[in-house]
Amino acid sequence: MKISGNIKEVRDIVKEWKQQGLSIGLVPTMGYLHEGHLSLMERAIKENDRVVVSIFVNPMQFGPTEDLASYPRDLDRDAALCEKIGVSMIFHPEPSEMYADDFCSYVDMSGLTEELCGKSRPVHFRGVQTVVSKLFHIVPANRAYFGQKDAQQLAIIRRMVRDLNFDIEIIGCPIIREEDGLAKSSRNTYLNTEERNAALILNKSLTNAKNLIASGERSAKQIKDCIQETIMAEPLAKADYIEVVNFDTIKPLEKLNGNVLVAIAVFIGKTRLIDNFILENVN
Ligand code: PAJ
Repeated sequence: MKISGNIKEVRDIVKEWKQQGLSIGLVPTMGYLHEGHLSLMERAIKENDRVVVSIFVNPMQFGPTEDLASYPRDLDRDAALCEKIGVSMIFHPEPSEMYADDFCSYVDMSGLTEELCGKSRPVHFRGVQTVVSKLFHIVPANRAYFGQKDAQQLAIIRRMVRDLNFDIEIIGCPIIREEDGLAKSSRNTYLNTEERNAALILNKSLTNAKNLIASGERSAKQIKDCIQETIMAEPLAKADYIEVVNFDTIKPLEKLNGNVLVAIAVFIGKTRLIDNFILENVN
């Protein structure tokens, strides 16, 4: 397995694969890989002849008070995991390789980026779209794999690809959870034992909401209130947002219908965690 931080080298290798008629899958990550990332890679390996995993903690998508410096990193461990499951190449650039000192071009979007995480993380999605666009140009893959764990990100990337005519298929993959229901996340490593336990409230509150919807409730307010009540019962938890939106447009819904995304962000102590579920064709 090749590991390269050099854009030209990666481009040349990918170009050669393409000339040989091989299909290419890309899995963009920020590293510190867990089973959520691995599920994307496994799917990519199944569906493509070659798989490139990018590992890049993208400074542009972190706000000034966020966890860029403390974000966990372990390239050796990540590389061993990638090699074991059959990844062909890791692209692991330095920030200076991706962003020249006078870098000033961005990819941005209105609408979809303004709700949910866009409210509390105003520069985040511009950073995500810019880096993902760069990755799509550096590794012109047939398919790119994204997790539903970051549902808003998935919706934004899909829209960006559609609006800007990127020649790449976006594959959304389901959320992988710990046995007790906590969605896997590199940020779970920030939690102490007590907080790890408290973090179960995210999945628990979503399960309560799902049950309420299954019983026939269609009012977004009732769903949000149900989630809020569950979260408030956990003293270490504080909701950042609880939203019910259309999954394709990320526009808030009053009444559930169509493709519905129920998404939450919750502070457990100082750590902000996200979780969600999607219901298709609700009527
Ligand atoms: P990162 O948080 O490392 O996630 C990389 C990919 O793994 C994303 O598509 C994310 O949705 C997916 N993922 C994370 N946890 C998951 C889980 N529990 N189940 C399924 N998939 C999961 O998302 C990013 O990095 C960055 O924003 C990036 C797209 C790489 C751009 O910098």
